[in-house]
Amino acid sequence: MPTGLFITLEGLDGSGKTTQIKRLAAWLHNRNPTEDPVLTRQPGGTETGDRIRALVLDSRSTGLAPMTEMGLMFADRAQAIAEVIRPALDAGKTVLCDRFTDSTEAYQGGGREFGSESVLELHRLVCGNLQPDLTILLLPTLDFSLTRARRRNQHVETSSGLNETRFEQEQDAFFTRVWRKYHEIAAREPNRVLLIEGDLSIDEVHEQIVTAVSKRLRARARKKSAAVTLTDRHRSI
Ligand code: TMP
Repeated sequence: MPTGLFITLEGLDGSGKTTQIKRLAAWLHNRNPTEDPVLTRQPGGTETGDRIRALVLDSRSTGLAPMTEMGLMFADRAQAIAEVIRPALDAGKTVLCDRFTDSTEAYQGGGREFGSESVLELHRLVCGNLQPDLTILLLPTLDFSLTRARRRNQHVETSSGLNETRFEQEQDAFFTRVWRKYHEIAAREPNRVLLIEGDLSIDEVHEQIVTAVSKRLRARARKKSAAVTLTDRHRSI
């Protein structure tokens, strides 16, 4: 049984996930420098995953069938679970993952209109139904996110030669469906998903995140000490 803490960050492109994941990692490091979290992202985060990322995000990957796209997202995830996530959780570490299956539900289930059930079914099959302990869902306004994502990707493309603009070229209707599906997920799973809405400052968002993470860390510590007490009792019988 995994003993670590699995935290995922979700949101539309340009929602500020990457900034927040770095701030959270720094906060966790300051709290306990001997227990640095494992940082990863999807698609990507493994050698195989980085190749899949290059293929699926490149705007030159024209004609990718929607089912191929969804299959690639799950292939990437299966590799990340086997190589990074599961071993880290089994070793009791905290894993911070930039996007997970909620992204597939929102983008392929919502955006590409496959619906939630097919995504959740694949998740059960391919990912052993692994669930995050906490998901932080950043949803600033749609306009704000899209403008930021498109500006950022132009910059990334010119400065590093990377082309990751395939999704940003989708129409607003696609992103509206993604946005709705994210809301649906948050309403369905309020215990797992912390929804942070509106155009808040970086500091305000960070504060909300650390409050939720602190709560989960305390719960995990309580669970661990209860397990130790049980084992001790078992030994003394
Ligand atoms: P990001 O790494 O900058 O967040 O970009 C990843 C892109 O891939 C983003 O547009 C969302 C998309 N995506 C999916 O469509 N489905 C998925 O399952 C994942 C993980 C990402």
